Amino acid sequence: MKNKPISMIVGTGSSVPSKVLSNFDLEKMVDTSDKWITERTGIKYRYIANNGVVTSDLCSDAALKALEEAKVLPKELDVIIVATVTGDVKFPATACYVQQKIKAVNAVAFDISAACSGYIYSLTLANQMIMSNNFKTVLIIGGEILTSMVDWTDRNTCVLFGDGAGANVIKPSDGEKGVITTYIKSDGQLAHLLTTPGGGSKFPINHRTVEQKLQFIHMEGREVFKHAVKCMSESVEKVLQQANMSPEEIDLMIPHQANIRIIEATAKRAGIPMERVLVNIDRYGNTSSASIPIALDEAKRNGRLKEGDTVLMVVFGGGFTWGSAIVKF
Ligand code: COA
Repeated sequence: MKNKPISMIVGTGSSVPSKVLSNFDLEKMVDTSDKWITERTGIKYRYIANNGVVTSDLCSDAALKALEEAKVLPKELDVIIVATVTGDVKFPATACYVQQKIKAVNAVAFDISAACSGYIYSLTLANQMIMSNNFKTVLIIGGEILTSMVDWTDRNTCVLFGDGAGANVIKPSDGEKGVITTYIKSDGQLAHLLTTPGGGSKFPINHRTVEQKLQFIHMEGREVFKHAVKCMSESVEKVLQQANMSPEEIDLMIPHQANIRIIEATAKRAGIPMERVLVNIDRYGNTSSASIPIALDEAKRNGRLKEGDTVLMVVFGGGFTWGSAIVKF
């Protein structure tokens, strides 16, 4: 291993709403079946926010758990970055609401928009901010209430998504543990394949755009699938190259949880056996920017991820955006 880490993850936390929606519940809502959803996606359940719960609630809950583990007080935070495409409101940033809720009075707070890849983008940014020496303690959160953008009459999309948030507290590395390297990339030419077109400056909300259902997630599933496998495989290869590491040196791969078949294809191409790949999509569905930090927190708390382990995280999302990171714990 060549790269010396600059920053390290000193605390993780996650949060999901209390309501669970099963495939059997969905059978009663649209023309689908538990068998189809399980076989084509790997999903059995997903958490759904009740009315009144907003993204910053889940983000704040996850953040407080991460801060507790890190033994960091909210007032010690220099930066809060929230990766989300389902913020509380159009503006201000959801990170500002998190700042208010957790009382992180000394932080600068802002959101980034990179769809499912938002967590890896945030980790990259946090690492660079710490490298600048201007910031010491950074909170990054991937948080979504994706179900607020779901068309519950569209079986092509409504079975896929869930809500949740995952947070990390990041501080300068001790020289051993931490972020070895990250890799991020985008291709805006393919933006139209996965988008929520309504509600922005292109299609401001009005009766017509609502009738056209532009406020919901629109996705070309098969195309997205193809690109996801290609870009996630490329990301694994690049990040291993950057770190000068081989797949055998990875103790645990945490891929974005969008579809079990995407995960299996990526792992196969990467040469990492499924025993070393974390899968929790069955219980969460696709929670976008929250998926990797929720899985990471779960792995730490249930002992799947142990001290000294090297983790490879890899993601793909709307934009298109994609990326990966190698972190030693
Ligand atoms: N229940 C039952 N049938 C369904 C269904 C559902 N929920 N959703 C779609 N179908 C049907 C389709 O209508 C189609 O029927 P047809 O052949 O009569 O037209 C058939 O199943 C196959 O559809 P297809 O789109 O080819 O299925 P697929 O195997 O590609 O699986 C996805 C669909 C969405 C699960 C898959 O393409 C996927 O996971 N794509 C990537 C999604 C993703 O990761 N998005 C986020 C990226 S971060």
